[in-house]
Amino acid sequence: MPLKRHVWCGVDGGRTQPDRRATFRAFTDEPTSGAPNLKRIVVTGAGGQIGSWLVPKLREIYGDTRVLATDVRPLGAEVAESGPCQVLDATDAKAVGQAVLRHRADAIYHLAAILSAVGELDPGLAWTLNMTSLEAVLEVAREQRCAIFTPSSIGVFGPSTPKDPTPQDTLMRPTTMYGITKVAGELLCDYYHHHHGVDTRGVRLPGLISYGAGPGGGTTDWAVDIFRHAVRSGRYTCFLSADTALDMMYMPDAIDAVIGIMEADPSRLTHRNAFNVTAMQLTPEALAGEIKKHLPGFEISYSVDPARQVIADSWPDRIDDSAARNEWGWAPQFDMAAMTKDMLEHLEPQPSQEG
Ligand code: SER
Repeated sequence: MPLKRHVWCGVDGGRTQPDRRATFRAFTDEPTSGAPNLKRIVVTGAGGQIGSWLVPKLREIYGDTRVLATDVRPLGAEVAESGPCQVLDATDAKAVGQAVLRHRADAIYHLAAILSAVGELDPGLAWTLNMTSLEAVLEVAREQRCAIFTPSSIGVFGPSTPKDPTPQDTLMRPTTMYGITKVAGELLCDYYHHHHGVDTRGVRLPGLISYGAGPGGGTTDWAVDIFRHAVRSGRYTCFLSADTALDMMYMPDAIDAVIGIMEADPSRLTHRNAFNVTAMQLTPEALAGEIKKHLPGFEISYSVDPARQVIADSWPDRIDDSAARNEWGWAPQFDMAAMTKDMLEHLEPQPSQEG
């Protein structure tokens, strides 16, 4: 097995480009000492909110050269300079197959997807992109015997689902195209596991809060926007009503969940593609109150967007994640207070908000 690997960067449609190692530090194929299972990984949608956190963490654990970051758009310098990357349309099964083959990957983290609010603006596109890309990576995983992580979401639930607590196994009749693709995706992953023996795994992520790359058009985006506006202008107009409760999670916990389920002992997993996971339940009013403890001048007002309010109202107030806790030891670290403190420490404060 060669110890040096080419770095495929800017590859389009599976067509390889010249080795660009000269522009980066030399990537070697040496295993990271102590890396569990020495995985070789391809990440789709690496430039998004989750990917921008997941890729550095995977590289830290498994080794920089072992994690190929891909996205439909060129990735930023930070990702490109720390390991291999490539432009890749995840709906193009042939290109995905070639990328996985060249990288000799044994695991795919498939993050490329259209979220709930943007999905309702073009439901046909949401269906096509979310399902075509999932089918593509599952087929590649079947052919090349890779494990697959696919994020599901609280979006799988609908108005007829019990809201508090929402059980692990319950009614799932979502009313968004995003949610429909996530339910279909969970079932498709189950199918590939049962019929083709693919090691498919996933968690139903709640709204994710992070600094850095922002979310791409979800209903839970307010919980990120509120921080950006709080530090920039000291005020935020929320598109959901003050008392809208939704499950949320700080990104470091979400990354732990993603890697935790992939590293879990498969013999303990009953719900392999669809674990409820949550860390906190937030309303805009409660989070604004927490932010005010740090930025006393912060003000929140409300201008409800009916389209996104309907989606939020169709989702749970509090999901029950005991199956994840029992089957693979899921345990989030950040509650609302710890997350808020950390977010504000990492966002640039404006002088007028500092005291
Ligand atoms: N954060 C997603 C959204 O709002 C839900 O998983 O669409």
